[in-house]
Amino acid sequence: MSERKVAVVTGASGGIGSQVVKKFYENDYDVVMLDIKKEALEAAIEAEGYDPERVCYYILDVSSEEQVKDVVDSIKEKKGRIDALVSTAAIIGKYNPTIDYTFANFKRIYEINVFGPFLMMMNVLPIMKAQGKGAIVNFGSVSGMTGYTYEIGYGSSKWAVIGMTKNVANEYGQFGIRANSVSPGWVNTQMFRDSVEDYKNFGDSQVTLGPLGRPAEPEEIANVVYFLASDEASYINGSNVLVDGGMMLG
Ligand SMILES: NC(=O)c1ccc[n+]([C@@H]2O[C@H](COP(=O)([O-])OP(=O)(O)OC[C@H]3O[C@@H](n4cnc5c(N)ncnc54)[C@H](O)[C@@H]3O)[C@@H](O)[C@H]2O)c1
Repeated sequence: MSERKVAVVTGASGGIGSQVVKKFYENDYDVVMLDIKKEALEAAIEAEGYDPERVCYYILDVSSEEQVKDVVDSIKEKKGRIDALVSTAAIIGKYNPTIDYTFANFKRIYEINVFGPFLMMMNVLPIMKAQGKGAIVNFGSVSGMTGYTYEIGYGSSKWAVIGMTKNVANEYGQFGIRANSVSPGWVNTQMFRDSVEDYKNFGDSQVTLGPLGRPAEPEEIANVVYFLASDEASYINGSNVLVDGGMMLG
């Protein structure tokens, strides 16, 4: 069993995920990085110079029931514990008005954004339950708290994540497990840059940045994720923590 605490992060080579990995690593966790992008994972590990004893990765499609089970089994065998599970993996999908959205687009978004965190929690919870402790952080979005145009699939998938997180918080609090979601406004990552471009197709933009006049930097989101997973947040359970720089104030 690993002497250090273990954090498992999906979407670990992404804009926010890679900063989440770094934050846990800097705070003495062993980190398991999960993503579909092998080269990006390897590049991130090399760029940060992570100790290979403490940071490992698996190529994983979070929408695959079989892969998630196999990877979590392997982590259990290798590390013997999982203290924090952070699911950042998601796709924005193709923007379109609802009538043009396509069922295929909608379904793929749900497979990754909703079924992914569900499968991760379903497989990791037995380990946390046996430990009598654990913290889960999922990713909602301001889009999952409002009703943005052209993203019925993405937006509603984030409503679902916020909801599932509350289901788990309510069921597993009694076992010492806390589950919370973080809902960012805009964050300076590839997903944000793609969104800005995609909205241009519709001649208007809902990319408003709010009173701070800038998107969040990914590490500003990672700080909140780390706090929620830490014992400093021991009484926060079932919350959806808005980190939008005040954007939703209007
Ligand atoms: N960037 C923003 O403005 C913003 C705003 C609100 C919420 N969010 C949420 O924050 C989280 C992280 O977003 P980001 O901006 O870092 O995005 P990103 O695109 O930079 O990273 C997403 C990561 O998920 C991985 N991924 C995609 N499909 C996968 C799959 N099937 N299996 C495993 N990994 C997969 C990608 O390879 C990528 O590394 C997401 O849940 C997103 O919805 C982002």
